Amino acid sequence: MEKMPYCDGLTIAAAEPAGAAEVVSTDWTRGLPVLAGSEVTLRELRASDAPSLFALLTTEEVARFISPPPNTVEGFERFIAWTARQRSAGTYVCFAVTLKGYDTAIGIFQIRDLAIGFETAEWGFAIGSPFWGTGVFEQGAALALQFAFDTLGVHRLEARAALKNGRGNGALQKLGAVQEAVLRKSFLRNGQYLDQALYTIIDSDWRAAREVPRAVYRPVVH
Ligand SMILES: CC(C)(COP(=O)(O)OP(=O)(O)OC[C@H]1O[C@@H](n2cnc3c(N)ncnc32)[C@H](O)[C@@H]1OP(=O)(O)O)[C@@H](O)C(=O)NCCC(=O)NCCS
Repeated sequence: MEKMPYCDGLTIAAAEPAGAAEVVSTDWTRGLPVLAGSEVTLRELRASDAPSLFALLTTEEVARFISPPPNTVEGFERFIAWTARQRSAGTYVCFAVTLKGYDTAIGIFQIRDLAIGFETAEWGFAIGSPFWGTGVFEQGAALALQFAFDTLGVHRLEARAALKNGRGNGALQKLGAVQEAVLRKSFLRNGQYLDQALYTIIDSDWRAAREVPRAVYRPVVH
């Protein structure tokens, strides 16, 4: 999943007027809240996200180390409908990633319950490669983690990344995820069993890290 040229034909649609499309719900099973960062917004997926997600998430570099994404726009529409059903059932959430001021979905963050009630959960993410290395992932991840720990009440958040997935491993490591194990030959992709790293973030570690004041930059005065 390394670099790819910018997607021809993909236009980033302007967002609707502020507030018009926002759903803020305290009961996330009835509709996901809009999570707004300074540059990135996470929101519920819509059927109309299917074309941009198809264009951005089915490229070889994005898809090579993740479960095969749908291979048609209609397949993404069915996936989006499935995510809404799982959210209603209270077992899974999937956020669309958009850039501030735009409404086009450029990636997803998913969190699924591994026990009853989200005490242990697994997350996964994919961002269109034109947006890799731009900070979109980091900001989206911060929003998704806050939702996982503060709203879903996750205690232990797991992630699996194929060892060969350099960016996936690097992305998790820079968030402070701890590699606990290597799950040998645990992921079948393109007819080959791949080793995966199991990463975790524990709620108390995440909270403690947020309390540490960031280093203050002081210019050297001569
Ligand atoms: C995973 C993903 C969402 C991360 O987004 P991103 O914008 O690429 O992530 P970032 O650039 O913020 O962080 C990746 C880090 O890995 C580092 N990295 C890149 N290649 C690497 C490699 N081969 N080995 C180790 N680290 C590597 C980058 O330098 C970066 O760290 P830095 O910001 O400290 O320099 C994105 O790459 C993606 O969608 N990939 C395809 C889907 C996927 O693999 N999902 C994850 C499954 S675990």
